[in-house]
Amino acid sequence: MEFSFVNPTHIRFGKGQIATISKHIPSNQKVLVIYGGGSIKRNGVYDQVVEALKEHTWVEFSGVEPNPTMETMDKAVTIAKQEQIDFILAVGGGSVIDGAKYVAAAACYDGPGWDILTGKQRVSKATPVGAVLTLAATGSESNAGAVITRAETHHKLSFFAPAVRPQFAVLDPDVMKTLPEHQLINGVVDAWVHVCEQYINTPTGAIVQDGYAEALLRSLHTLGQQFHQRDDTEESGDQWRANLMWSANQALNGLIGAGVPQDWATHMIGHELTALYGVDHGRSLAIIHPSLLRHQMADKRAKLEQMGQNVFGLTAGDDLAERTVDAIEAFYHSLDVATQLTEHTEGKEQAIENILGQLEAHRMVKLGENRTITLEQSREILEMAV
Ligand code: NZQ
Ligand code: ZN
Repeated sequence: MEFSFVNPTHIRFGKGQIATISKHIPSNQKVLVIYGGGSIKRNGVYDQVVEALKEHTWVEFSGVEPNPTMETMDKAVTIAKQEQIDFILAVGGGSVIDGAKYVAAAACYDGPGWDILTGKQRVSKATPVGAVLTLAATGSESNAGAVITRAETHHKLSFFAPAVRPQFAVLDPDVMKTLPEHQLINGVVDAWVHVCEQYINTPTGAIVQDGYAEALLRSLHTLGQQFHQRDDTEESGDQWRANLMWSANQALNGLIGAGVPQDWATHMIGHELTALYGVDHGRSLAIIHPSLLRHQMADKRAKLEQMGQNVFGLTAGDDLAERTVDAIEAFYHSLDVATQLTEHTEGKEQAIENILGQLEAHRMVKLGENRTITLEQSREILEMAV
């Protein structure tokens, strides 16, 4: 096993922690506050940020959409350059934080920002970023990745650069009280699939990574089971939100994936569903995931068996791996999340052609932990998900 691991994001976890952001941003720095469609104005988060920044000079950019587009974020890049911004504060979910990362990188680059997504421009320098998280799902608040959509072409691509990893992240579970139920469920599913992408792969005897991954999967499964029973007004509701926020962070902060094989094929195919049909990110994953696991059974059997016993408490047997995938699918269904292609405008056959066309255009033709999921295999997976 070989890996290099560093995660320098300072996490501020708990109620009232938004006030601490002033400690992380020198008061002589000019701040660009970036946020989304306005939920933070309605739930008091904006007011807390304004209070925390009262010693700072700052400007704001709002209107980052779910699945942030380059077209929108380029307007913020212009502001960052014109205003000579020193620090970018993202206040929102994964979309706002990803959008802010793009702005941070593009503000230090003179060419077209899309070069950062295609890899033409390797990001080595970025404006420092901090995050106030309002939706637990992606882990973007302490990782180095960002996913940006080009609206004009429906391309949804990602980039990774340590320079855009937030220096600090405020995780106050209270701010999630205003999240609609379907967004909470999206968070459970997204975090769950993040762990699976780093865990249901060829076994390498990494008992620490496997053990952490299984602890996160058991936690997320429990949170899913508690979902309909939890009482938002009671302490149990506070605990539920806190556990989701921390699980989702740990699921994609680099720790469980260090030194082990990773897959991400479900994500790559899911991104195309979002780019083409606007399917919520978490839901796009659930559509692909069970079919992909069944299709890739030969490579994933050993880990599915391990997961079946250590996460779901299933009994041993020849069909343990198959029963584990059934349990994963039942978990999604218990949250009213579909596992078949549901949201698209044309017939399903045309939708599959469109998704394959996108995968090809993005050179997503060798996906999976062993790079063996070709376009033909993606077609078979999608046909299994009809
Ligand atoms: O825009 P506002 O008004 O804030 O509303 C948002 C948005 O409509 C709302 N919301 C967020 N916090 C709220 C709230 N509403 C009420 N109360 C609150 N406290 O929720 C909606 C969805 O927000 P969004 O940020 O889009 O959701 P999420 O955090 O799931 O992010 C999804 C994006 O992250 C990318 C996805 O592809 C997608 O573009 N991902 C980023 C990753 C990363 N950087 O590591 C990894 C992931 O796999 C994922 O691909
Ligand atoms: Zn995800």
